[in-house]
Amino acid sequence: MITIELNPEHAQVAANNFRLAGLAERVDIRVGDAHQLLPELSTEGPFDFIFIDAEKEGCPAYLEWALENLQPGGIVAGHNAFGHGDIVDTGDTRERTEALRVFNRRLAEDPQMVSLIFPAGDGRALAVRRRQEQCPSSPLQIKDLIYSDWISISTALTTVRRRY
Ligand SMILES: C[S@@+](CC[C@H](N)C(=O)[O-])C[C@H]1O[C@@H](n2cnc3c(N)ncnc32)[C@H](O)[C@@H]1O
Repeated sequence: MITIELNPEHAQVAANNFRLAGLAERVDIRVGDAHQLLPELSTEGPFDFIFIDAEKEGCPAYLEWALENLQPGGIVAGHNAFGHGDIVDTGDTRERTEALRVFNRRLAEDPQMVSLIFPAGDGRALAVRRRQEQCPSSPLQIKDLIYSDWISISTALTTVRRRY
């Protein structure tokens, strides 16, 4: 797993936690600005799981990169999809709020992706890249697969990935 962190102190906290979890050898922490590091990371892809959880203003750019570097059947996830409720406040036109709206809309409208926002906490955007161009004749209703916890998300995503 490769993870990017701008703040060296945060990177150190993450490194300590990975070490305590016995995962240090499986994690490659790169310190720097993701906007600068991601282009060169493309040479190491495509990736099967991409999790986006940095500054919200950057979400649209991070998502475009993710969609270009995600393999078929891969998953892209984003934290804070609800922006703490700000995305439904029509008077909120801050860049970070607009960025989350763009992020959510982009995932929802991309025909290559099967997407949802799981309404737990501040909202988790989850999307699977289809393995094939066309939907099957009886499209899967993703809402039928979602229950109430993360274990069920995992089950739902596994089902969607098998189907698409
Ligand atoms: C909400 S925290 C991430 C928490 C992490 N996902 C976790 O679960 O522990 C957001 C992190 O993004 C980092 N960040 C902000 N802008 C960044 C950028 N341009 N490139 C890389 N990391 C960035 C911040 O330093 C902060 O540590």
